[in-house]
Amino acid sequence: MLMERLSERLSLVTRVVTDPSVTAGYCTDFTGRWRGSTPLVALPGDTAEVAEVMRICAGEGVPVVPQGGNTGLVGGGVPMGGEVVLSLRRLTGLGPVDAAALQVTAGAGVVLASLQRHVRAAGLDFGVDFAARDAATVGGMVATNAGGERVLRYGTTRANVIGVEAVLADGSVISRLGGLPKDNTGFELPFTGSEGVLGIITAARLRLVPLLERRATALLGLPDVPAALAALAVLRPLDSLEMAEFFLPEGLRLVRGHTGLPSPTREEHAVYLLVECAASRDPEPELHAVLESLPAAEIVIAADAADRHRLWRYREAHTEAINSRGVPVKLDVALPLGELPAFLDDLPGLIGDAELYLFGHLAEGNLHVNLIGGQDPTDAVLRRVALAGGSISAEHGVGRAKSSWLHLSRSPAELAAFRAVKRALDPGCLLNPGALLP
Ligand code: FAD
Ligand code: MLT
Ligand code: ZN
Repeated sequence: MLMERLSERLSLVTRVVTDPSVTAGYCTDFTGRWRGSTPLVALPGDTAEVAEVMRICAGEGVPVVPQGGNTGLVGGGVPMGGEVVLSLRRLTGLGPVDAAALQVTAGAGVVLASLQRHVRAAGLDFGVDFAARDAATVGGMVATNAGGERVLRYGTTRANVIGVEAVLADGSVISRLGGLPKDNTGFELPFTGSEGVLGIITAARLRLVPLLERRATALLGLPDVPAALAALAVLRPLDSLEMAEFFLPEGLRLVRGHTGLPSPTREEHAVYLLVECAASRDPEPELHAVLESLPAAEIVIAADAADRHRLWRYREAHTEAINSRGVPVKLDVALPLGELPAFLDDLPGLIGDAELYLFGHLAEGNLHVNLIGGQDPTDAVLRRVALAGGSISAEHGVGRAKSSWLHLSRSPAELAAFRAVKRALDPGCLLNPGALLP
């Protein structure tokens, strides 16, 4: 009865979908690990409609799960408690590129690849990039503080956001899209990284960077992780260094089986490090000079853009290749670089008989520990990460997958402050209940 009334009221102000064959697509995540249900999906077309949806849901006391591209990997955007899904996908407005200020305003539903096309046409770029670029949205990236492959140069999403517009649980709108680089009129409300529990992000004012089209990419075959860390230390001083990603032979074999790609190197190596430099001048000579000084067992250099994309595919196809093997437990963690070798030595003993696929963003000590089959070893792995001074979530967020372990990375005082902020902004706990905060 309540849902019928809600559906009727929402239909008067926005687009509503109740057909289960359509809503099903909003109820399961990319990996298939998180499968929820919803009575309806609201698809507002602008901020005013989002505000109206929230006012109506708040009036009826109905909880809401905000959702963008549904590419999240911690179950944060899936309605596991039968909540209404508020999809931001129709908020696809893109403002003019301000080349002088290096800024643009993007609607929450703008997909990363569309944002890239828009700003690249103006000779600029967005500093965040990752494999889900064709589906992940600006709202989802801000809500998760997405990281990706260029963090070593441009930081995470947080460093690339100047301000956001958001709808609060009661339907009020907060808008900080003016783009003033200097504006010390109080503190920032913490929407970046809030995973949909504090407000619905409807737009963001984004910082842009110069478009660097001269690129040099190399794949290094190395004997072990300490050798990869040593190579990283030598490469790090290059101001053109943009990416340093690693993967292992088990993952490479899976990717090759999934994609049909040939081996990228003559021989198999214990560790593969994929590095890319980008600059307005050709960065190849400086990359070559550094690579020559490295004791890498094998180095493959991309000959052209197509070759570069081929090398990237070995790294970026890991997620889909792992999915094709089974439903994975995905543990995205970060450790201080000096702790990586000891952690990796201990890892096999922590995961029991699960199949392990490991890859990630080496410069941030960000490991993607993917496990298939066996007992779920989340608790043992996350405790070991915390013991080493690491983070239980490097870039994917906490979502529903890791909320029970948040205390390993955050102190009681921090958790109390989080709860106080949540209570202040969402006293009825209507926004994404069960996500992020245990
Ligand atoms: P969703 O999955 O829809 O939602 C994610 C979270 O944000 C949920 O908690 C949801 O409630 C909340 N949310 C979404 N939109 C809003 C909004 N407008 N307002 C408030 N809350 C909202 N992540 C990385 O950080 N780095 C990577 O390298 C990376 N690579 C990936 C590669 C693949 C192949 C895949 C499938 C995923 C990858 N991800 C990566 C994870 C994912 O793409 C990011 O977390 C992304 O930011 C999620 O965006 P989305 O629009 O799909 O959000
Ligand atoms: C990546 O770096 O490719 C992602 O974060 C996705 C994943 O962890 O599977
Ligand atoms: Zn990643």
